[in-house]
Amino acid sequence: MTKTATLTFSDGTPPIELPILEGTYGKPVIDLKALAAHGYFTHDPGFTATSSCNSAITYIDGEEGLLYYRGYPIEELAYKSDHMEVSYLLLHGELPTAEQKTAFVNSIRHHTLLHDQMENVFRGFRRSAHPMAVMIGVTGAMSAFYHEGTDLFDPKHREIVAHRLLAKIPTVAAWAYKFNEGQPFVYPNNRLSYAENFMHMMFSTPCEPYEPNPVLARALDRIFLLHADHEQNASTSTVRLSGSSGANPYACVAAGMASLWGPLHGGANEAVLKMLDEMGDVSRIPEYIARAKDKSSGFRLMGFGHRVYRNMDPRARIIRQTAHEVLEALDLKDNPTFRMAMELERIALEDEYFVSRKLYPNVDFYSGIIFRAMGIPTSMFTVLFALARTAGWVAQWNEMLSDPAHKIGRPRQRYIGHARREYVPIEARRA
Ligand code: CMC
Repeated sequence: MTKTATLTFSDGTPPIELPILEGTYGKPVIDLKALAAHGYFTHDPGFTATSSCNSAITYIDGEEGLLYYRGYPIEELAYKSDHMEVSYLLLHGELPTAEQKTAFVNSIRHHTLLHDQMENVFRGFRRSAHPMAVMIGVTGAMSAFYHEGTDLFDPKHREIVAHRLLAKIPTVAAWAYKFNEGQPFVYPNNRLSYAENFMHMMFSTPCEPYEPNPVLARALDRIFLLHADHEQNASTSTVRLSGSSGANPYACVAAGMASLWGPLHGGANEAVLKMLDEMGDVSRIPEYIARAKDKSSGFRLMGFGHRVYRNMDPRARIIRQTAHEVLEALDLKDNPTFRMAMELERIALEDEYFVSRKLYPNVDFYSGIIFRAMGIPTSMFTVLFALARTAGWVAQWNEMLSDPAHKIGRPRQRYIGHARREYVPIEARRA
């Protein structure tokens, strides 16, 4: 029997029966579509209690600290799979067979090159532009190169869009860095794996040979995999909302990147390293902990806490181990910044304030540490997050458009402005 909820009114309006829909897991949702016919809308700024779509891609249980992609626990994927396989899984719903994986990886490999004229798009930016600004601009500009002839309702066309984005975004990301640095753009080398190719385009120069360090390449691939999707967060919802109008998908992904850029979303790992740099020494940790506890300071310990996870973020647990492997491999365990990070982690995990509020170190705390150890500048941290999240964005966009019942996203509002008033001629207006 379908469960229902009854909405009653204090003014005598007859009650409204609303169906309750269950998912595979997670909280049931009350289907509110019928409300509009009764002359009501719901009001939920920040969407704190609103499900915006049906999705079969990612499941998060914040209380238990669980994250599944297409039903597979993130731990299994992180230790047994790789980012290419997981991108295929997110997009197609199933893990690939060996032949499907080879074909997928080959297709991605053969779309890595950017149109030659796109170099001019990079060169139009100021050298000092933030690489996220360049990334958003160049990804948006891809819509000018790939627009005509894309039929969004043809699954094959959508697949080509997804492959192009997965393949070209690492090139865009690495070139955003090269442009900043004033170094020549390095073309992709399709012999290399996804993560190695990114490292090659980012760190090599035409002057000397470059061999990606396998420990770092594995760490980077794991970071990509762990960040690949996180259900209906701000940037993913932005991609869905902009894509719901049938807009060009490259422009929609650029819109998602713009949303990700904010410090409350993808910008947090950058904030972690800025905080550690400002702290400067282990001896100042107590001062920072005290400031974080003092509500009047407005200061929060960056890299701690999460809106959804009230338990250790499962990604943080995995990436913590990877951070240790990277510091070990690069012999950086005694570096002052990383010693400070590890001491901060230790104290916060024991401190009553953090323990009682379930404020665990989050994924951004550790990804920032790994990126810094790898020599990636702070301004590139969110760019790397965007690169990884592209897999989720294209999968969610594809899922939305493959639903024949999909509608343009169009929220309502509660109008709180002036009531109707008469136009006042300019001579008669008073300040
Ligand atoms: N440092 C000190 N106190 C904190 C922190 C922190 N980092 N985070 C939360 N609190 C306190 C908060 O003051 C509140 O205390 P009280 O109950 O005494 O008033 C309590 O913990 C609950 O916090 P909240 O404000 O209800 O938590 P929220 O869900 O609104 O905020 C958050 C989540 C991630 C915005 C927040 O924890 C924060 O600002 N963290 C630091 C920034 C950060 O690392 N962000 C990255 C998150 S992961 C990003 C992603 O996945 O995209």
